[in-house]
Amino acid sequence: MKDILIGNGDLGENVVLRLDQSNRHGLIAGATGTGKTITLQILAEQFSKAGTSVFMADVKGDLSGLAEAGKDHPEVQRRLKAAGVEDFSFSKNECFFWDMFGKSGLPIRCRLDRFGPLLLSRLFDLNDIQSDIVHIAFRIAKDKKWPLIKLEDLRALLGWISDNSDKLRNDYGNIAKNSIGAIQRDLVAYADVVGDNLFGEPTLDVNELIATDKLSPIHILDATKLMQNKSLYSSVLLWILDELYNTLPESGDSDKPKLVFFFDEAHILFRDAPKALMEKIELVVRLIRSKGVGIFFVTQNPADIPQVIQSQLGNRIIHGLRGFTQKDQKMLKNISESLPVDGKFDVAKSLGELSVGESVVSVLNEKGSPSDARKVLNMPPFSKIGPIDTSDIRKENESHSTFNKYTKTVDSEGAKSLIQKANKKREEDEHEEEDEERSSRSRPKKRTSRRQTASEAMWKSFLRRFGSAIATLCISFIRSFLKGKR
Ligand SMILES: Nc1ncnc2c1ncn2[C@@H]1O[C@H](COP(=O)(O)OP(=O)(O)OP(=O)(O)O)[C@@H](O)[C@H]1O
Ligand SMILES: [Mg+2]
Repeated sequence: MKDILIGNGDLGENVVLRLDQSNRHGLIAGATGTGKTITLQILAEQFSKAGTSVFMADVKGDLSGLAEAGKDHPEVQRRLKAAGVEDFSFSKNECFFWDMFGKSGLPIRCRLDRFGPLLLSRLFDLNDIQSDIVHIAFRIAKDKKWPLIKLEDLRALLGWISDNSDKLRNDYGNIAKNSIGAIQRDLVAYADVVGDNLFGEPTLDVNELIATDKLSPIHILDATKLMQNKSLYSSVLLWILDELYNTLPESGDSDKPKLVFFFDEAHILFRDAPKALMEKIELVVRLIRSKGVGIFFVTQNPADIPQVIQSQLGNRIIHGLRGFTQKDQKMLKNISESLPVDGKFDVAKSLGELSVGESVVSVLNEKGSPSDARKVLNMPPFSKIGPIDTSDIRKENESHSTFNKYTKTVDSEGAKSLIQKANKKREEDEHEEEDEERSSRSRPKKRTSRRQTASEAMWKSFLRRFGSAIATLCISFIRSFLKGKR
């Protein structure tokens, strides 16, 4: 199994990211224009070649080059020469393009109830009270067996809760109608921008992102439009991570990850994240590695990643960082103190002086301990640097047997329709009751029934028969008496 060649170190040795340590997560950091995206590219294509699938969000639209072979350039030759690589040939990768809006790739959708109340609260930046209401709404939907598939289902449910809040108080506590109103307004504003994209069926089956013996592609999510709504961007990526965490079986330590997930612009994920969400992220990051998934956070400033998460990122590739302000200096000092060094190497100084496409690297060794940090001249990618026209590839994607089912939406019955039916039934029942009452009031009072009961009828028939028998006896007696007299 070939490990991932990052580049050539300043002591002349090649620095590799071990495949069997790649599920111990990583950090790719660096100021703008220092080489983060190309690092992401060289890691992604080598993972894919090694049989590990990759999922990444393309924030600036410059990752599509992964689907086309690169071209020769003196800069490429300089890097290959430094790393002593002779058998290098440019190549393209098998890429699948996804787009939540369904324009530049296969649409990513999920049922609302799979997305869950926590991420939904994050998506709409709800306050604690509103978030509690959304949690209650999901509980009511579950209790009532009303599927929440699209946003319209949640809107209908919130309307129903508002109408029935008095009756629901005993079981679910106080539900403030004005907070429901505020959430409804958020849902309408969101739907105006995002429409019915994202929430619906078929839900993306994350098992299909995982590498198989035949296929270990690079999945690229077009995030250029998604990034315009930062909460949407981070919520969608977190949902995919959460699905992976909830769906995949434990796989223990293996020789390579099943999937590596690159989280670009990772600082967005943590900005103003409420406590519950932070705990969730921490849990997923800690436990997902035993399910064979490695996460690499990509960001301009490593200080944006909370310490509790940073401590779980074993593999670090840090590009040039600027030390202009005191805050920058402090950040440089912190990051250099977090990397192990052999004594002579001044990490902070080096990070401030790195050229484009150079990095300071510390990776986990076979024992899982971080190697001493080294300055590295990074490898060039096999594929093209920069964007390409992907229309043909996208057509190919859509016809792929595994993924073509995502091109069409499925319409199953959700909470909205069931609530409408329940409301209609209730109205009909109420009308029936009213009609019954009205007609019972207008009907003339019935005389007491003259109908005989069963026992009455029995007695009467008995008496009738008994009577006629006695009468017959009397008549025959009188006749014989009269006969005697004559
Ligand atoms: N390893 C490399 N091999 C060859 N060229 C590289 C390499 N790394 C960086 N470059 C060159 O530097 C340019 C900028 O790199 P890149 O786009 O990766 O920066 P970035 O850190 O992602 O910037 P931004 O923060 O603006 O997204 C690339 O377009 C490429 O020309
Ligand atoms: Mg970039």
